[in-house]
Amino acid sequence: MNNEIIIITGATRGIGKKIYDTLLKKDSTMISGTGSTAPAEKEPLLYQTDFLNGQSVQNFILLMSNYLEKNNMQIKALVNNAAIYGGRGNPPRTRKEIIHVNYKMPQLVFHSFKKYFSSNARIINISSGLGELRNFSKEIQNAFNDPALSEIKLNNTVQTFIENKNFRWPDDSYGISKAALNTLTRIWHHKYVITENKQWKIISICPGWVRTRMGGNEAPLSIEQGADTPLWALKSKMESGLFYRKRKTIPW
Ligand SMILES: NC(=O)c1ccc[n+]([C@@H]2O[C@H](COP(=O)([O-])OP(=O)(O)OC[C@H]3O[C@@H](n4cnc5c(N)ncnc54)[C@H](OP(=O)(O)O)[C@@H]3O)[C@@H](O)[C@H]2O)c1
Repeated sequence: MNNEIIIITGATRGIGKKIYDTLLKKDSTMISGTGSTAPAEKEPLLYQTDFLNGQSVQNFILLMSNYLEKNNMQIKALVNNAAIYGGRGNPPRTRKEIIHVNYKMPQLVFHSFKKYFSSNARIINISSGLGELRNFSKEIQNAFNDPALSEIKLNNTVQTFIENKNFRWPDDSYGISKAALNTLTRIWHHKYVITENKQWKIISICPGWVRTRMGGNEAPLSIEQGADTPLWALKSKMESGLFYRKRKTIPW
């Protein structure tokens, strides 16, 4: 049995499902996915996990950890893809819910599973152009660009956004959640790849504007096009610590 697994969150629809289905067909590695509407546990393929429900998240982490331990498996790649967006006909969401699913959950999943990462694991944070720093004030850009920024300090900054304190925060929870996720990518790259010399590749990807439930029918890109760069990044010789779109790097 191949003892490596790829985990994709939000594998029940849209871009995540496309990545999941493509890998299931083409990759000999075990693939596992999550989604709140996944069919009841089909270990290790799909876990039903509601990222807005603490108990459900704990169950997923426990089940997955037990599975990895029992089968002596390592994680070859983690694709943090599940996300929510309050606009464009999607169900309305609070600031807290958006930050929770789009920022805190990728962070929790990463830290819960990092002990299982293989020596050359790939961690792919699916982000968005709406999180590019040029969209925000200089003050907010400086807060996210602070070279001394630690994960704890970033968490505090994100918390002030939820509480609407400090800075003139824009009313764009989704953009802020993705800017914060990108900042996590940079902090993790610095800590694990640069400082600890791990051979992991940790990147962010903007899939472009894609015709999914989140992107809506007007989006110019098909789901195949949206999944292209994440699928490429799972296989190619890309560099760690960068932000990609259409297989090319873009500024943070
Ligand atoms: N579409 C675009 O135009 C676009 C543009 C830029 C970036 N992105 C990013 O691309 C990624 C995929 O987006 P998409 O367009 O494929 O979105 P989507 O079609 O809305 O799919 C979102 C996925 O996230 C899962 N998810 C949402 N809430 C969840 C929750 N509370 N608990 C567990 N899973 C949850 C969904 O699972 P269930 O349905 O089972 O709940 C689904 O599998 C996201 O990170 C998004 O921010 C998309």
